[in-house]
Formats: sequence, C-alpha cells, structure tokens
Amino acid sequence: MDSVEYHAALSALAWQVELGADECIGDAPVNRYDVPPPAPKPVPATVAPDGPVAPRSEDPVAVARAAAEAAQDLPALKAALAGYAHCELKRGARNLVFSDGVPGARVMIVGEAPGRDEDREGKPFVGRAGQLLDKMLGAIDLSREASVYITNVLPWRPPQNRDPKPEEIAMMQPFLYRHIALADPDVLVIVGNHACQALLGKRGITRLRGDWTQAQGKPAIPMFHPAYLLRNPAAKREAWADLLSLKARLRDG
Ligand code: URA
Repeated sequence: MDSVEYHAALSALAWQVELGADECIGDAPVNRYDVPPPAPKPVPATVAPDGPVAPRSEDPVAVARAAAEAAQDLPALKAALAGYAHCELKRGARNLVFSDGVPGARVMIVGEAPGRDEDREGKPFVGRAGQLLDKMLGAIDLSREASVYITNVLPWRPPQNRDPKPEEIAMMQPFLYRHIALADPDVLVIVGNHACQALLGKRGITRLRGDWTQAQGKPAIPMFHPAYLLRNPAAKREAWADLLSLKARLRDG
C-alpha cells in the first residue's frame, strides 16, 4: 500500500470508529445456533499384549528412518526431507535449509539449526555466526567454496530461534545420519551443544570441545558454536586450538 492509500485508509477507519463501528463483522452472517459437525473419530491404536501402541505409520521417527534410508544420494535425501510432513517446524519456516559447500569434501560441519538469515536464504550459516565460521575456516585454509561441506541438525528454523526440542532432534536424526553417510567426509566438526546431543548423545561443549571422538563411524571434533564465540570472544582462544587440531588431523590423516 503506498502512503496516500495508507493515510486515506487510516482516516476512513477513524471515521467509522467515530460513527460507532467498534467491532469487526464479517461479510457473511454466522449462525451461532448451528450444531457443528461431529469431530472425526481418532484412529484406534493397535493393542499389543503389553499395552496400546501407536499405529506404525504414525511414528514420526520410524517414518523419518524409512524415508532417509531409501535416499540413495544427496538430492534424493533433500527431496525426502522436503516431503517429510511430521515436523511442525516446517510449517513456520520459509525454506528448507539442507546444506552448503562441497558435497564429498573431507570436512563436514554439523551445526544446530537455521536462524533468520539462513531461513531466508535457504543456506546454513550465512548470518553473523556464519561469517565468523567462514573466517575461522579461512584461518586454516579451508572454505565452503573449496573444501568444506556444511549442514545442521534441524533443516527448518525453530520459531524465535528457540532451542530444538528433543523430539525434533529425534525426528531429524535419521536424516542427519544418512546425510553423513552419503556425504562421506573424512572428519566431522560438531559445533555446539545441540549437535553434540544429536551426534554424541551428550551435551557439555565446554568439556567435550577439542577432544577427538567418533560419530557415525567418523573421527569427530566438537567445537564451540560460532554464535557462542560472538557472545564470548575470550573463548576464541580454545576455538583456535581446536582449529589447529583439525588442521593437523587433515594433514596427517
Ligand atoms: N547457527 C547454526 O547452528 N546453523 C546455522 O545455519 C546458523 C546459525
């Protein structure tokens, strides 16, 4: 709406309020005495000897596992995620954020979830934290253009950037595991607590960071999340040590 239309509309509204129109009324009348149609009956759960069980097709993790395992390459995995209907986050997101960088690169970075900028662009780590991540990678001669592949635990932005819920991580885990298998990196860089939770089954990044471990059959190093480093610049010292450790691993391995 241009500014003339805006002011004209505002004065028209003020005039109507002046005349006593202080309620929103729809064009079509509503019959409040109408009896609403009965709600659909819930699908009965099958009853196993040890209690009720949700129907198999309703188990979001089982559906995710089947969809992820059926994907034979990265485009198919992206399509499987796009078609996965059980994660509420999808409804509020503008874009599916699948990955960026070089598929098949020696280094695969796993972050947490898209933020506002990533949601808008459909690519991981493009906001302020992503710019810092690029600088950190550049400091050891790595880049998403040439030598790194990047993804997140969650492919859709959580509302208001809230933390991922355990059930969201559980639903996305089969896709993440398959993503790692198909991208087949030499090493994983696990950034932040939520990625540690998804790949190592534990949190506590301050203790975990810098210690090489295994995740999905790959050597993996947990590191501070760049968003944490933006808030706590003093921790860049440890991040630098971890980057040097990554560099040495790539040189020797
Ligand atoms: N933080 C993440 O963990 N991932 C992104 O893609 C952006 C910010």
